[in-house]
Amino acid sequence: MGKIKDAVLAKEGEGELYWARSHMPILAQIRKEFEADMPLNGIVVGVALHLEKKTGVLLETLAAGGAKVYAASCNPLSTDDRVAAALSSKMEIFAWAGQSNEEYYWCLQQVMQAKPQILIDDGCDLTLLAHKGKMEGIRGACEETTTGVSRLRSMEGAGKLKFPVFAVNDAYSKHLFDNRYGTGQSTLDAVMNMLNLIIAGKVVVVAGYGWCGKGIAKRASAMGGRVVVVEVDGDLGEDKSSGSGVHKALEAHYDGFSVMRMEEAAKIGDIFVTVTGNRDIIGEKEFLLMKNGAIVCNAGHFDNEIDVGYLNRNAQERKEVKPNIEEYLLGGRKIYLLSQGRLVNLARPTGQGHPVEIMDGSFGVQALCVAELAKNTPKKQGVHPVPKGIDEEVARMALKANGIALSKPTKEQMEYAKSYDGGT
Ligand code: NAI
Repeated sequence: MGKIKDAVLAKEGEGELYWARSHMPILAQIRKEFEADMPLNGIVVGVALHLEKKTGVLLETLAAGGAKVYAASCNPLSTDDRVAAALSSKMEIFAWAGQSNEEYYWCLQQVMQAKPQILIDDGCDLTLLAHKGKMEGIRGACEETTTGVSRLRSMEGAGKLKFPVFAVNDAYSKHLFDNRYGTGQSTLDAVMNMLNLIIAGKVVVVAGYGWCGKGIAKRASAMGGRVVVVEVDGDLGEDKSSGSGVHKALEAHYDGFSVMRMEEAAKIGDIFVTVTGNRDIIGEKEFLLMKNGAIVCNAGHFDNEIDVGYLNRNAQERKEVKPNIEEYLLGGRKIYLLSQGRLVNLARPTGQGHPVEIMDGSFGVQALCVAELAKNTPKKQGVHPVPKGIDEEVARMALKANGIALSKPTKEQMEYAKSYDGGT
């Protein structure tokens, strides 16, 4: 019986992979090059990524380049079991949806036991685990998300990062599109699929107006939601290349959204989305101010943005209404929590992750960075920017896939642009 079920799952997973593969022209191109050059021949690649169809196509691409792939998920809820079943016959997969914390770390440990030479991580859990064991043989890693890069920078600052890591998240070809348009669309998709309620006319509170928050606010507003943005003014040690909280708050204001503190927003919000990469954004104080029927969810990497523990300890009643929607009765009001406060756009079965074309770009950067680590491993341990050549190559491939051509600057224009004296 188990085998039949697995076979059915794997068949559905093949369909999912086929659909993704058919819409990922960048990875298709890289795969062709990998098959010819075999840049990863015999290299063991250890992976912790959300294990669903787009990730599956990345893993197939790495395997086509000669890599031996060992993969776990980077989140206990985000594995698509159908895709995991389909991939299991091609590589080593340690992932399933609905894991306990212990099971999650057990899977990461299985990946480390394969003695990977290159890691691909999303959130830095695998990299941290690698640092608890023997690290010889590890050439380096690639990190997918904002929270992971910020943890890596803290490790580097404390002198604790022992191998080079490419900050894939910080490539323009990744965060400008993945964090903004990918998170924007997939978060709203997941919320709408789950709730089947109208967004138009609702007050949607977005906490954090970074790359992801901007995408969520834009999409919610396009659906007719009345968007309220919550930001902070303070030193968070973050990368300020796109401005601090004060700039983001002003940007949100000029983008046409209301900006206010969470204690004000809590009283008027219908749907709350946290996406700050920080902790304790919604807790006791905010829950007690919320309207009856308020809906709360998180799209930031970790599940500590919403104090779910407070709800569990203090609600008079708690029930699972349907998959990924829990109802808490708190002081006579109902509060709905989506996906246990974990990444709402990725938690199975309601979250499907980013649109396929978006992940084609992000994973194009990943694949080329893995090949770069294999060929030209940076000598220095620490966080490295994605080489500019890779970042621009992926954007060019995406433009080509979309049939978009650009003009070439003339020689005179290039000289003029670089001159300080008006080019005379
Ligand atoms: P970002 O650094 O561009 O933006 C975060 C924003 O949150 C900043 O503007 C910061 O000022 C603000 N913030 C920090 N503490 C706050 C607080 N207490 N209250 C209100 N605002 C606060 O980061 P980005 O790229 O937008 O990522 C945000 C989170 O989303 C990270 O955890 C990242 O890993 C995760 N992420 C999730 C994805 C998904 O698929 N759900 C995709 C990509 C990233």
